[in-house]
Amino acid sequence: APAPLIDPFARPITYLRVSVTDRCDFRCVYCMAEHMQFLPKAELLTLEELDRLCSSFVDLGVRKLRITGGEPLVRRNIMQFFRNMSRHLGQGLDELTLTTNGSQLGRYAQELVDCGVRRVNVSLDTLDADKFSRITRWGRLDQVLQGITAAKTAGLQIKINAVALKGVNDDELFTLTKWCADEGLDLTFIEVMPMGDLGNEDRLDQYWSLSDLREQLSQRYSLIDLAERTGGPARYVRLQETGQKIGFITPLTHNFCESCNRVRVTCTGELYMCLGQEDRADLRSPLRASGDDRLLRDRIRDAIARKPKGHDFDYSRQKVGGQMTRHMSHTGG
Ligand code: GTP
Ligand code: 5AD
Ligand code: SF4
Repeated sequence: APAPLIDPFARPITYLRVSVTDRCDFRCVYCMAEHMQFLPKAELLTLEELDRLCSSFVDLGVRKLRITGGEPLVRRNIMQFFRNMSRHLGQGLDELTLTTNGSQLGRYAQELVDCGVRRVNVSLDTLDADKFSRITRWGRLDQVLQGITAAKTAGLQIKINAVALKGVNDDELFTLTKWCADEGLDLTFIEVMPMGDLGNEDRLDQYWSLSDLREQLSQRYSLIDLAERTGGPARYVRLQETGQKIGFITPLTHNFCESCNRVRVTCTGELYMCLGQEDRADLRSPLRASGDDRLLRDRIRDAIARKPKGHDFDYSRQKVGGQMTRHMSHTGG
């Protein structure tokens, strides 16, 4: 077997996040602009190219593959791709999963299970229908809740991702927590990162530190720190009273770059070595230049050899540091 991918900081790269489309049926305010210019189809990797790309990463030691977008389930024939990827499960790949806004789960949950998917992360910041429509700019909460129900029925384990936003969902901390406990869902909070248009909404005003959120939670529940991890950046606690698991993704208050194990590929085949840096490598050219994947694997190795130490996101000193004009949807979070 080829040598595994190890970056300059001795971090093994075993987790690949692949965006399969830049499109989404929502326009979450922290993720996209209201009017997005989407890419022409020819720019996107084909399903066949995606297969070659992901398979090469699995050959190079990737054990966890997360499909993202945009919204991955709006990509045409995406189930074919999941089905193809499922052949790697138990053959190098430990986990095949996705991050979704949930709107299409009603349609696809059972098929995902059939493709070996065991767990899905669903983005949901609020349980208030009007607020939901404002955050997503036009999304319908009931459609997502139906998707979550379908996923549960199909036997998928579900983790809700909520971006913590002061003045937006800080009044729902306990509502969200209780609802997830009642529904048997894990819940992870994410600190909002300064990416995309910071023009008309003030990220600095909306930033809600998870240290503060955790402090609020601990006033009502006993938090038990868990050592177990899911291979992503979240740290987990269990609430003694409900038994549920709550995760914290804290790029701002507790930088986790030191243990980074992941890289991301955009839907056009750009390999970003870090979510919070611009350096990237074009993998589409080697994919299109030759049917032999040696060139592609060399390009991947060269890129990993310059993976940066981490992001520079920072909201201290009353200004935003490390901001990226790139939208979160470009790299899929
Ligand atoms: P699990 O497999 O459940 O651990 O999922 P995950 O946290 O790896 O994936 P998910 O798509 O749910 O990620 C949630 C969010 O965490 C992402 O969309 C990003 O906002 C953030 N995140 C994930 N990886 C990184 C990272 O390397 N750096 C930073 N700054 N944020 C990250
Ligand atoms: N900061 C933090 N998380 C974000 N997400 C999208 N944009 C941002 C941002 N600016 C989250 C979504 C989803 C995941 C893919 O990324 O809510 O859960
Ligand atoms: Fe779409 Fe997800 Fe971005 Fe929201 S966070 S606009 S649901 S890709």
